[in-house]
Amino acid sequence: MDYKRYLITAALPYANGPVHIGHLAGCYLPADIYTRYQRAQKRDVKFVCGSDEHGVPITIRAMKEGITPQDVVDKYHAIIKDSFKEMGISFDIYSRTSNKIHHETSQAFFTKLFNDGVFEERESEQYYDESKDIFLADRYIVGTCPICGNENAYGDQCEKCGSSLSPEQLLNPRSALSSAVPVKKRTKHWYFPLDKYEEWLKEWIVVGKKDEWKANVYGQCKSWLDSGLQPRAMTRDSTWGVPVPLPDAKGKVLYVWFDAPIGYISATKELTNQWSDYWCREDTKLVHFIGKDNIVFHCIIFPAMLKAHGGFVLPDNVPANEFLNIEGEKVSTSRNWAVWVDEYLKDFPGQQDALRYVLCANAPESKDNDFTWKDFQDRVNNELSAILGNFENRAFVLMHKLCKGRVPPLHSDALNDADKTLIQEIKNARVKTETCLENYKFRDGLFEVIDLARKGNKYLQDNAPWSLAKTPELQIENQKRIDICMHLCLQLTANLAILLNPFLPFTANKMCKKMKVVERMLDWENAGRIDLLKTNYPLLAPSLLFRKIEDAEVAAQVEKLRNNLKQATSTKMDTSTKAPENTAPVTIGTTTEPIADQPVIPIGKPVITIDDFMKIDLRVGTILKAEKVEKADKLIRLELDMGTEIRTVVSGIALHFKPEDIIGKQVTVVANLAPRKMKGIESNGMILMAQNGDGRLIFVSPLETADNGIEVR
Ligand code: 2FM
Ligand code: ZN
Repeated sequence: MDYKRYLITAALPYANGPVHIGHLAGCYLPADIYTRYQRAQKRDVKFVCGSDEHGVPITIRAMKEGITPQDVVDKYHAIIKDSFKEMGISFDIYSRTSNKIHHETSQAFFTKLFNDGVFEERESEQYYDESKDIFLADRYIVGTCPICGNENAYGDQCEKCGSSLSPEQLLNPRSALSSAVPVKKRTKHWYFPLDKYEEWLKEWIVVGKKDEWKANVYGQCKSWLDSGLQPRAMTRDSTWGVPVPLPDAKGKVLYVWFDAPIGYISATKELTNQWSDYWCREDTKLVHFIGKDNIVFHCIIFPAMLKAHGGFVLPDNVPANEFLNIEGEKVSTSRNWAVWVDEYLKDFPGQQDALRYVLCANAPESKDNDFTWKDFQDRVNNELSAILGNFENRAFVLMHKLCKGRVPPLHSDALNDADKTLIQEIKNARVKTETCLENYKFRDGLFEVIDLARKGNKYLQDNAPWSLAKTPELQIENQKRIDICMHLCLQLTANLAILLNPFLPFTANKMCKKMKVVERMLDWENAGRIDLLKTNYPLLAPSLLFRKIEDAEVAAQVEKLRNNLKQATSTKMDTSTKAPENTAPVTIGTTTEPIADQPVIPIGKPVITIDDFMKIDLRVGTILKAEKVEKADKLIRLELDMGTEIRTVVSGIALHFKPEDIIGKQVTVVANLAPRKMKGIESNGMILMAQNGDGRLIFVSPLETADNGIEVR
């Protein structure tokens, strides 16, 4: 399809806290790169986003801080908006769902579906907190998880074992607002019959999008569709949200996942009177950038809502990213295990592109990835600075030294093979980068740009114009060679600015200033050209594009993370509003020096070195499932939650424990033991057990509940 317009959305972040770098890497940075690229192609683009200001997380934070939900969203909307702006996330509009236009738009959407008889009205019994006189949304109910025994599981999900739950499944449910035991009370809600759209969704996604959407996105959709869709309540009992526009709906608001995606429409309305061109004309390409936790809402529920309403375009693509972990640990806002964007901006002023570079080069495009400060330093110093910055700087320095600070002539009649190859590489780089960007492969696209700089460095090195300058007797011939080399290096620099612009806009801008060219040069159509800088044109003096990241800065950031964690976990959690997450401290580089003059007395086995010990990857896991292995007296097949994967381990403990008694237990796992087959089952690791003097087996478990997957040292 020949698209005339691009409507690009990025998930509306909840205004209940600042944004962290996982948010940037997951959706805002790829969305911005894509948008900037489309703009450089001079396509008609609108990039919309805004704060998601309704929903339970916001009311919970308000309660926790003793302020109103409006205070919460006002505070965080401003912080988030500012962080995006500073990071160069170039929305055409950053709106908010508490705006009047959004309330009206989402109410009109609901009313249309209601009038068309789409909704099913259902009465059901729901949990109610009598002491607070309020219905409890699933998140407001906490209780014991029936799967893993976590006593602080939410009514919709256990954050410890990741199981999706309903409040009815919780053991000993209690209100998160008052700790009172909730009672059941009848209430009426409006359900969207997702089941009726199942066939249509299958046709649209399974038949239509299989080869277009990313495998992680398609896979999640397929598994939802395969499990069968159920009607879903689109209203809630609450005072915070968009009021349900019906006479008999006092105290009811739209479900946050009903109103939030409509926020894309209302933000576009706020942006332009032509909003309906973008939303209602078939030749618009609608692309939703999101994180993987939002896939079902953007690929199944919202499209079904749009279809039921009629008249709207559907997303052409939903390029969702996976998650970015920090220093080997999942991001946790309650444990303050995160790198906050507003803090990065204060700690690294002017270094926006360094972060953009690392987050894109290490983007979690197809699997969860890890951000470490050491890797940040390595990538900035050894790639961004040593390859790209170095090339650009050498080109400027040499041009000033060998060509009087002006763009030298090309002497096109005297080009050798290496020059011609470089010219071809410049043209190829455009095609390769473009293909990556069109296909949402931002990491690969950035790699292509850096690769062009790498080729520039090699060309410069091979020609070594600085050595040619030293042989005066060959001056005329040599100056010709110097001119050609420097001319091409400068044209390559201009091309780098164009190709980099979507990824690192601050740098591209700086480069334009140094080359004294207008920003229009960055138009994509100019990429591949080698006549961008005019001969004899004077350029500014050299200056470094990037600065190195120092060891001390890395150490300070790692220390900051540790301190944040310590503080967050030592502050007693208020269990009335928040289910505490695991509080195990994280060990990073805490190996201790051996004490040289104290004799080490081996117990039973020969002494090993710390390096021997460090080869063993010990990790915490939780037993999710346990079952006896058929025809094997001693073996139990265990399924362990290892934080990032579910592992099968076969353990010889069946004579000591009943499978059902050990579910939910945390254990220490030798995680890098070579797989081996036991009774035909592949065992991937071993759990540590101690045997008592009386023969009893004892689990070697952490004394406190720990995060699954963390290392034991
Ligand atoms: O997961 C989240 O942060 C949601 N606030 C995303 C909403 S995206 C859209 F639907 F508005
Ligand atoms: Zn659980």
